[in-house]
Amino acid sequence: MEIRSYPRDFFLHRVWRYEPGEHVSFLAPTGGGKTHLANQLLAVTSSEHLQALSLVMKPRDQTARKFAKSSGHRIVRSWPVPPGAEFWRTKKPSGYVLWPRHRFDPDIDDAAHYQVFRTAVLDSYKKGKRILFADEVYSLARELRIERELVTVWTKGRSMECGLWGATQRPWGAPQQMYSQAEHLFLSYSPDTRDHDRYGEIGGIDPKLVANAVKQLPRYWWLYIRRSDRVMCVVQK
Ligand SMILES: Nc1ncnc2c1ncn2[C@@H]1O[C@H](COP(=O)(O)OP(=O)(O)O)[C@@H](O)[C@H]1O
Ligand SMILES: [Mg+2]
Repeated sequence: MEIRSYPRDFFLHRVWRYEPGEHVSFLAPTGGGKTHLANQLLAVTSSEHLQALSLVMKPRDQTARKFAKSSGHRIVRSWPVPPGAEFWRTKKPSGYVLWPRHRFDPDIDDAAHYQVFRTAVLDSYKKGKRILFADEVYSLARELRIERELVTVWTKGRSMECGLWGATQRPWGAPQQMYSQAEHLFLSYSPDTRDHDRYGEIGGIDPKLVANAVKQLPRYWWLYIRRSDRVMCVVQK
């Protein structure tokens, strides 16, 4: 089977469509372009009616800063945004970048960040109608131990229209729900057979076909899978 291949811009504006509550997974090694692609998709998908909330875990992050600026997503240090903090704004932003301050002491930071990110995840689930972007699922789930909350959103968030967009640099170690619950999957080149072993968990798609397609991807190219209608295509750099 020949898999069609599209330039990035064409994909973003002509192929990509998104319904509130759908989950999206980005699986690629570090430097594979997950954040770049996710930010491009957020820019064309988020709006004042479907706001994004991106969780930023690093103390310094030029990409997050640039993205906030170019997309008009507002950087906030805690969640929820205190009532009254925005009353003078005339227009709702299409999203927020939640970027808590770092004190550079893991005892203090881990406890504080656990609180703020956990609150943000559960608030998004409860209020719904939101895109929650967890750029580093592994750190969030395993290091800050917010895995149960994320799993809850993957399994029950759809009905609340809370779509969890998750990225991880360890495809073979990703929570199972990143494969089984995502309506949209983006997979990059991976030589690691442990990654290939997990394609069967996507469900409804031939894992051999996936492994074969992924093997041929150049840098920054993606295999895109839309599960509901089993559409598959390659997204170019
Ligand atoms: N499609 C692309 N074309 C050109 N450069 C890209 C592309 N995607 C990512 N990059 C660059 O590659 C580097 C790593 O991308 P990034 O999105 O941060 O990777 P990841 O989040 O997977 O670690 C960044 O400097 C980014 O600008
Ligand atoms: Mg990244």
